[in-house]
Amino acid sequence: MRETWVVGAASNRFGKMAESARESATRVAMAAIDRAGLEPKDIGYTYVSNAFGISEHQAHVGPLINGGLGIPDVPSCTIESACSSSSAGLHEAFAQVAGGFIDAALVVGAEKLSHLDTLAATSYFAIAADYPFETRNGATFPGLYATLASAYQSAFRTTPEMFGAIAVKAHANAARNPHAHFQKEISMATYLASPVIASPLRLYDCCPFSDGTAAIVVAAKEAVPRPATEPLVIRASARSGSITEMQDRPDLLGLPATRTAAAKAFRQAHLTPKDIDFLEVHDCFTIAEVMALEDLGFFPKGTAGPAAQDGVTTRDGRLPVNPSGGLKAKGHPVSATGASQVVEVFEQFNGLAAGREVPNTGTALTHNVGATGGSCSVHIFSRR
Ligand SMILES: CC(C)(COP(=O)(O)OP(=O)(O)OC[C@H]1O[C@@H](n2cnc3c(N)ncnc32)[C@H](O)[C@@H]1OP(=O)(O)O)[C@@H](O)C(=O)NCCC(=O)NCCS
Repeated sequence: MRETWVVGAASNRFGKMAESARESATRVAMAAIDRAGLEPKDIGYTYVSNAFGISEHQAHVGPLINGGLGIPDVPSCTIESACSSSSAGLHEAFAQVAGGFIDAALVVGAEKLSHLDTLAATSYFAIAADYPFETRNGATFPGLYATLASAYQSAFRTTPEMFGAIAVKAHANAARNPHAHFQKEISMATYLASPVIASPLRLYDCCPFSDGTAAIVVAAKEAVPRPATEPLVIRASARSGSITEMQDRPDLLGLPATRTAAAKAFRQAHLTPKDIDFLEVHDCFTIAEVMALEDLGFFPKGTAGPAAQDGVTTRDGRLPVNPSGGLKAKGHPVSATGASQVVEVFEQFNGLAAGREVPNTGTALTHNVGATGGSCSVHIFSRR
């Protein structure tokens, strides 16, 4: 395999986009290519994620984006893996570039749902769950993650303040991130006073519905002799799956796909959790951050909540988690989320994260989950 890098990455501000997902994807992709110091003609393949493009009456968006970039002859495909769509795109791009099939690939994720109300957006999202057993019976993602939170609470000692600490941290970080949907801090009192959405989850336990777009450029080291930026060396690109139907899982105290993807990633990279300086993890709900940190091997089961409360995972803590603000406060435009986690690592490595810098940026891990864990990607990046 060839050494493979992320050489450019860009994002718009999450929240509400005036333009369509297709227009935004083209513009943000161009920004990522510019940052890489490359030109569209250098791209050998485009991987697009736009899971809910159907809500904009648009599928097969890859050729349209490539057309907009002036490279209509470049192949493209749409990668859908629910909330882990663009990290799945990165995995495919990595395989193509590392395997020597192409020298550079574009990965872009875009989602626009702000033209829908909460009920319609919730219904669209719910199709990523299991239809016969979950969606058809009224389950939604807040409900399914509330089930996971209830199971966790019955097995381990928890307090509302543990989950609140994660929400307060997410908003504090997002307040310093120009890409974030919510650029406002919240207090613990605000968290505790927020309405219950799906017991035990409160408003501030939940990610919002966000529009947003993120793009990354992946290239072989040998194809970029003089990189324009500090590249992220892809040390591991691992994907895993697990049973989607929650009723068929052996336990609900974590996500098996995270555990298996993490094991593969650490094995590929020849690293352990102790080697990671900071992480971007999939915190669609605060319980998801707790489970992620435990399943990835950073904390024993039942201890990630108390660690958050002790400040271990704040930007200046021992293990900064989600300096971007995470899905919780930066926002969660499903198909853009995985790529946007890599944008955060890119900006941290390149001194572009003014005001939200983490102290050490040698090695970072990104973790992106599809739905309630039917799919998962873990990537590890280091400096050269
Ligand atoms: C939590 C949720 C139900 C709130 O939706 P809602 O009640 O319709 O909220 P609205 O859109 O009417 O917004 C009401 C206010 O709350 C804010 N808000 C909405 N969602 C928020 C969230 N998740 N966190 C913080 N604030 C939020 C809005 O900005 C708005 O504030 P304002 O009054 O100051 O403008 C919705 O955001 C949700 O379902 N989130 C989960 C999305 C999801 O399942 N994603 C997939 C994960 S796998």
